[in-house]
Amino acid sequence: MIGRIALLAGLISSAGLGGVRGQDAWSAPPLLHNRSTIPGVVEFDLTAAPARLALVPGTLTDVYAYNGSIPGPTLELREGDRVTIHFHNDLPEATTVHWHGLNVPVSADGSPYDPVAPGASRDYVFTVGAGTAGTYWYHPHPDHRSGFQIAKGLFGAIIIRAADDPLAGVPEKLLILSDNRFRADGSLDLPDPDSPQGQIDMENGREGDVLFVNGHVLPTIPIQSGAVQRWRVINASAARVYRLALAGQTILHVGDDGGLFERPDEVKEILLANSERVELLVRGDGQPGSRTTLQALPYDRYVPQTRPAGWNQTRDLLTLAYSADRPRPPLVLPPTLRVIPALDTADATVTRVVVLSQGLINGKAMDMNRVDFEGRLGTTEIWEIDNVVGMDHPFHLHGFHFQVLDRNGVPAPRRSWKDSVNVPAHETVRIIVRFDGYPGKWMFHCHILDHEDQGMMGVLELK
Ligand code: C2O
Ligand code: CU
Ligand code: CU
Repeated sequence: MIGRIALLAGLISSAGLGGVRGQDAWSAPPLLHNRSTIPGVVEFDLTAAPARLALVPGTLTDVYAYNGSIPGPTLELREGDRVTIHFHNDLPEATTVHWHGLNVPVSADGSPYDPVAPGASRDYVFTVGAGTAGTYWYHPHPDHRSGFQIAKGLFGAIIIRAADDPLAGVPEKLLILSDNRFRADGSLDLPDPDSPQGQIDMENGREGDVLFVNGHVLPTIPIQSGAVQRWRVINASAARVYRLALAGQTILHVGDDGGLFERPDEVKEILLANSERVELLVRGDGQPGSRTTLQALPYDRYVPQTRPAGWNQTRDLLTLAYSADRPRPPLVLPPTLRVIPALDTADATVTRVVVLSQGLINGKAMDMNRVDFEGRLGTTEIWEIDNVVGMDHPFHLHGFHFQVLDRNGVPAPRRSWKDSVNVPAHETVRIIVRFDGYPGKWMFHCHILDHEDQGMMGVLELK
């Protein structure tokens, strides 16, 4: 009975589309083909172009796509790889490709400083850093247009593998979470910024009512009772924050943005803010033939006046379906995954305060001709990020991984490498970062795309 009501609710909420209710077979985006045959050298071809794709049943949608697919093809890399991506822009507007979370030279960062004109090409060249094995993603980052181009379909996954992965051999699933909003004719619903909905999108960030996993609605992952799967989950949504739970099961949380933790953490739910990633071990605790769902539980990141309708509803993301096979013997997991050296606050020579307010950082909107912070390569800094308004803002720094020290003075429960961190309404998060890497001008910004495009971004110049 409960299942039937949930299904009905799903039908009603997407009535304009003739009922987007999913049950798709499982599929992940294609792997991007490496055309180099030299070990350790990777050469990819990537093109962004307009396309017409069937995103929701019965209609075609005018989109932008990388190599014709949404999400774009997955880049699989190994630590130490020398990578060249031959990018071609076939869009009717300028774009860039930003490799979110990767430590690359600033010339390869795809920041708003380096637009690729329509019809133009650019080679992005970098080496994959040691110790950076993890889950990342790529997306456009042009000035003021990131939200639009990502909503149109431009995003894809990057997986970096280590030579000594303690979880090697555990079957993997990639889950790219996105959402979108459609008109009844299948076209993307991108409201006029001056309309009431446009104003709400600007405030909250644009959320869609159709939830996708790898471009599919409510797909099914098959699993055998007793089996273990490693899930890499990416929040590629413009503004939706996912509070993930697997109904009736606990999850082993084993990693986040910059790869594995030191040891697994058994949890009931995980908060995944915009642009963050997690690695999970899902254990086949269910009986043969049973099913469960990966859910997005309600999460209140809003000011009361503009909470979207239905924000407090649980949404199903995918079905985990147990085969009828007899349970397999449990896998023995390593108690320790790796060592993460702590960055030492005693080494920090600079402390900065970053005040997040609605659309602004330290009271200012982004200006590409201004440098907000000047720093030195090789030094360690503490950043205190103060959210002074009543809405969450997920904070992202380009080019370097940081460690979260504390939230409102409470030490972080564990050490990990991050490039994005959610700063909830009226909270303060302190991070520590060592500028081991490349000089240049690096962006830091809110990763709610509408906020970023409004100018909730600053520039750190390292010399
Ligand atoms: Cu995911 Cu500055 O970006
Ligand atoms: Cu980034
Ligand atoms: Cu924000």
